[in-house]
Parts: sequence; C-alpha cells; structure tokens
Amino acid sequence: MKRTKINDLLKAPAFGTIVNVKGWVRTRRGNKNVGFIALNDGSTINNIQIVVDMARFDEEQLKDVTTGACLSVDGELVESVGSGQAAEIQARQIEVLGKCDNTYPLQKKGHSMEFLREVAHLRPRTNTFGAVFRIRHNMAMAIHTFFHQKGFYYFHTPLITASDCEGAGQMFQVTTMNLYDLKKNEDGSIDYSKDFFGRQTSLTVSGQLEGELAATALGAIYTFGPTFRAENSNTPRHLAEFWMIEPEMAFYDIDDLTALEEEFIKYCVTWALEHCKDDLQFLNNMIDKGLLERLNSVVNTDFVRLPYTEGIRILEEAEKNGHKFEFPVYWGVDLASEHERYLVEEHFKKPVIMIDYPKEIKAFYMKQNDDGKTVQGTDVLFPQIGEIIGGSVREESYDKLMNRINELNIPMKDMWWYLDTRRYGTCPHAGFGLGFERLMLFVTGMANIRDVIPFPRTPKTAEF
Ligand code: 4AD
Ligand code: MG
Repeated sequence: MKRTKINDLLKAPAFGTIVNVKGWVRTRRGNKNVGFIALNDGSTINNIQIVVDMARFDEEQLKDVTTGACLSVDGELVESVGSGQAAEIQARQIEVLGKCDNTYPLQKKGHSMEFLREVAHLRPRTNTFGAVFRIRHNMAMAIHTFFHQKGFYYFHTPLITASDCEGAGQMFQVTTMNLYDLKKNEDGSIDYSKDFFGRQTSLTVSGQLEGELAATALGAIYTFGPTFRAENSNTPRHLAEFWMIEPEMAFYDIDDLTALEEEFIKYCVTWALEHCKDDLQFLNNMIDKGLLERLNSVVNTDFVRLPYTEGIRILEEAEKNGHKFEFPVYWGVDLASEHERYLVEEHFKKPVIMIDYPKEIKAFYMKQNDDGKTVQGTDVLFPQIGEIIGGSVREESYDKLMNRINELNIPMKDMWWYLDTRRYGTCPHAGFGLGFERLMLFVTGMANIRDVIPFPRTPKTAEF
C-alpha cells in the first residue's frame, strides 16, 4: 500500500479510507482491551494516533511496538474523539520495520538541551529539534526565494582560500602535509610550496571578496554556504562552522543597503509565520512564551538607523543616569553585547541598524567617510541576539583602499585579483553577511546556537 505522510493525512483527512503510514513510535499506552500508539514521521510536529483493538492482534506481534521503534501501519482513518487531532487510525495491520530496545536514549520527555547535544545523532526525533530543523529548511527556502525574486544570482564562492577576508586571523588551515615531518625553510618558516596547493590555504571566513567580483559583473549576487572561524569564543552565539548569506550589490549606497537588510529579515520572519505555524506554536508553548509576539513585532516595526557616535552618546547618558555596564563606554570602543542589547532592548525596544563606525574597529574594505574617522559599516542589532548582520558599503576607490591596506599592513600579494575590481571599471557597491544560525536563534526562540544547527562545531567539540 502507498504510504501517506502524516502531514497530508491531517491536512485533509479522508475519513473512512484505508491508509498506510510509516514512522517512529513516540509513546505507547493503553490497557488489555485497547492500545494507543503516537506515531510521528517527521513531516509535521503532530503525531497520528493509532488505535489498536487488542483482540485483533496477538501479544507476540505487539511486543516490539516500543518507544523509538519504526512501524508501518495499515488502517482506517476515522474521526477522533480524544486524541487532540481531528483524525486517528484504527489499526488493521502493524509491521515493525525496525525494533528499538530500552537503551534508546529518548525514552521519556523533558531531556535537557545539554543532554540532547550528547545525542545529537538522535535529537532530530524529538519534538523540539524536529520543529527547529523544519524551520531551518523553511528559512533556507525563504532566503533563496527572496533573492531569486529580486533578480539576485546565487553565486558559489570557494570554501578553500588563500585570503583572510575579515583580516582577523581566525582561520583553520587546510593542508595535506605530514605534520609529523614538516619541511621547513632555512629561516624556520614552513615550506608551503610542497603543500597540496603550493601555498598556505585555509577554510574561508567569508565569501565576500569573491562575492564582490561577482557583483561587479552580474550586478547583484548572494552566497549561502558554510563559513569557518577558529575563534575561541565559547558563547551561545558563536560556532566554529556556521552558515552565512552574503548578498553583494553594485550601485547600492548606504540607504539602499540598510533598506535591503531590513526588508530581507522581515521577509524571512514573515515566511516563518506563514509556513511554520505548528512548529512555531509548539516552540512558543514549550521554549519561549514571548516568541510569536516578538516575531510579529519585528515584522511590524521600523528598524532604527543609528550612527555609532549617537549610540555612544546614548550609552554614556545611560551611565550618567546610573546604568552600570561591565565594559567601558567611550567613542572608539568596539561595542560589547551588553551595550548593543541596552540600545535594542531597553532604549529603542526595536531592532537597530548601527552605521558609521570608527574605522579602527572595522575591516579594511569598508567605505571611508569624509570625516576621516568613520566608515560606512552597518551592524543590524536584534533583541536577545545582538549582532545578526554585519555589512558595509565597500571602498571603491583604488587609492583609498590601498592606503588603508598599507596602514593596516595587510599582506596583499595574494589579493591582486581583489584589487582588480578597483582597477578595472570600479563601481559603488555594498553588501552584508547574515549569520544563518543567528537568524535561526531569533526565529525559533532557542537560547543556544548549538541547538539550531544539526551538528554543531565549537571549541573541543566535533562529534558526529
Ligand atoms: O560581521 P561579520 O564578521 O562580517 C563578514 O564576514 C562580512 N564579510 C560580511 C559581508 O559584508 N559580506 O559576519 C557576518 C555575520 C555576523 O553578523 C553574524 O551574524 C555571523 O555572521 N557570525 C557568526 N555566526 C555564528 N558564529 C560565529 N562565530 C559568527 N561570526 C559571525
Ligand atoms: Mg561583525
């Protein structure tokens, strides 16, 4: 018999028909006359209830129907009185496709997130992680749809690279050299000419530089792929391997850029509200009671545009009025997350797009303002998350860019190709990077970034 997904069954139940469902047992209960099996197949957060008339089955057949077991069930779809769903299935035939003994770690409900990380290979079978990963899929669809409809091209940038886009030195090296027998030059440095690529290479921290090449040819592009950072920050908001979306647009100025950032996030959140109703409702009930309200409020509010200098003024004012920050506030400081959250959560009570940062705390490629002190960088700051987007208008002048590169002593010999964008038909352009898991944190209300990616990579953890 052809299998029907539980999601389709529940959407438009054809009562009285015989159906087949396949899935995993969430719970089994009952007495000697009647049994109830809650079956889930991952197509929806909702289980289908299988009603078992014990007289029609012998004990032997049912002994393997345990929590976690995989079943194929044929039966009649009937209106339900007590299951909490419109429909349930009166079992006619039950086949156990895969047994599951009592060492299965997800026997009971209410495991801690920490414990579930230790069984990350099984946690997609829980309600919470099923919901999170369905939403993750939907956010990816939203992102591709948004950019496709706007005429942006999905552009694939390399994961193995010889350049450090952010200049932060947080790169994982890629090598096939024998680490037990490293060939060194006379001065003690490593001889990379013998390495696979004939030079030192790493995993990318950002696809932006290649994205700029594409934008100055195709007009508007976006990347969407994994990104790697060897920053040793054990926080609920940092991963060593995360996914980033990086649009890059020719002929965009700072206003075009911030408008796109705002429109993009609102589009994704709206998509979740429309396409992930059951999962969001579940997370709102079980994980974060303020979730739906926060999502709706972000969609319906105008984000604040806030120059850095004005932000510092507000924070200093707050200090004067008795607010205590752990880290000092002064013009030029790289804002700490407590500062960002004060602005977003307490002062404005809505998302803030901060602009015009001191050049010292931002990357070399950002467009320099006429004041000689600030650059056209933008960070989008969100309630609970802090920075969700980092972006900028790019410095399109070859001379200004080179001056900055020299000031910062950035080794450019391997980046000649990037500078060619400024040499041959340079143009005003801008772009940003959205951390996919930061967006996921916001949309799901989950508290830890390790719980919105299937297999998190963080310092000292690369299991599964
Ligand atoms: O602000 P970042 O470092 O900007 C860039 O990489 C630029 N090249 C982007 C661009 O303009 N095309 O990173 C962008 C975003 C951050 O705002 C944050 O959301 C996310 O990437 N991010 C991380 N997410 C998870 N774990 C980490 N370790 C992250 N580091 C950055
Ligand atoms: Mg940043």
